[in-house]
Amino acid sequence: EIIEQPRAVKATMAGRIKNNEIVFENDLSFLKGVNKIVITACGSAYHTGVVAKYVFEELLRIPVEVDLASEFRYRNPIVDEHTLVIIISQSGETADTLAALKEAKSRGAHILSIVNVVGSSIAKASDDVIYTWAGPEIAVATTKAYSTQLIVLYLFAIYAADKLGSADSKLLDTLLDEIRELPKKVESIFAMEDKLKTLAKEHYEMKSVFFIGRNIDYAVAMEGSLKLKEISYLNSEAYAAGELKHGTISLIEEGRMVIALSYYEELLDKMMSNIKEVKARGAFVLATAPEGNAAVGKEANEVLYLPKVHPLLLASVEVVPLQIFSYYVALYNGCD
Ligand code: F6R
Repeated sequence: EIIEQPRAVKATMAGRIKNNEIVFENDLSFLKGVNKIVITACGSAYHTGVVAKYVFEELLRIPVEVDLASEFRYRNPIVDEHTLVIIISQSGETADTLAALKEAKSRGAHILSIVNVVGSSIAKASDDVIYTWAGPEIAVATTKAYSTQLIVLYLFAIYAADKLGSADSKLLDTLLDEIRELPKKVESIFAMEDKLKTLAKEHYEMKSVFFIGRNIDYAVAMEGSLKLKEISYLNSEAYAAGELKHGTISLIEEGRMVIALSYYEELLDKMMSNIKEVKARGAFVLATAPEGNAAVGKEANEVLYLPKVHPLLLASVEVVPLQIFSYYVALYNGCD
């Protein structure tokens, strides 16, 4: 399923980009009346929502809340007919997510869901559905659903920004061009498999792993950490890098691995100081960086250089090596 991602991503965008325009089969005219967006989901689907918050707020300038469906359903959410509620789910059957949908619907919100399984309960209960065309996902740990959810979220954000006139049209054109290139870029990351396998072999016995990042790198840290713990049973945690100094730093010591997601160049200086801090405490630092950026390599023990993409799209390339690394760490630990 990891290897299928270029195909799944391509299938999800196919038919939705025509002559440089994004086309959705849905009537999305409700967009004009929206003054708030709430995204709610569980697990990895929630993590794509965290990425979307950064993308949507940048392009739409509408406040976005992202909430775990298992929390949303048990609070008194401020949602009304001017709220767009986006529900994200691979299966379309997750009980907490479906309950959150019903809660939002009862308060008058417009429900747009991003779902992989056609005709699922969430799809049926929504006002609008945009399907991800990931194909059947059998492995419990999601990979291709995550990647295809991102594509739908990007396309929806660009489409909405164009309709609302909330972002520069040149930026939207650039993003669309770059989205088209994503399948090839994701494919190129598979060349890194041997390096990831070697790193997994050298570190699979580690007791604890910390994923850190800022901005969208932080959103990817959450997903990387979940993937690793879910399939290898290792303790792994994700932190916004700026939070390290507020307590977590005390857990960093000799023998810890820190995965420093440092693709977001605007905050690279900040990440560099975080990397120095954890190295000074004895951690082994595996970092990510966009191709051509040599700065991180001066501090980190190992760097995964990833294809260049617009920073708003970085999750699509950065998640892939983390999936492959998790896969090999699990394998070396003798997991199923
Ligand atoms: C993690 C994983 C889960 C799901 C979550 C939501 O690898 O697969 O965290 O993302 O259970 O499931 P769906 O998307 O079917 O609602």
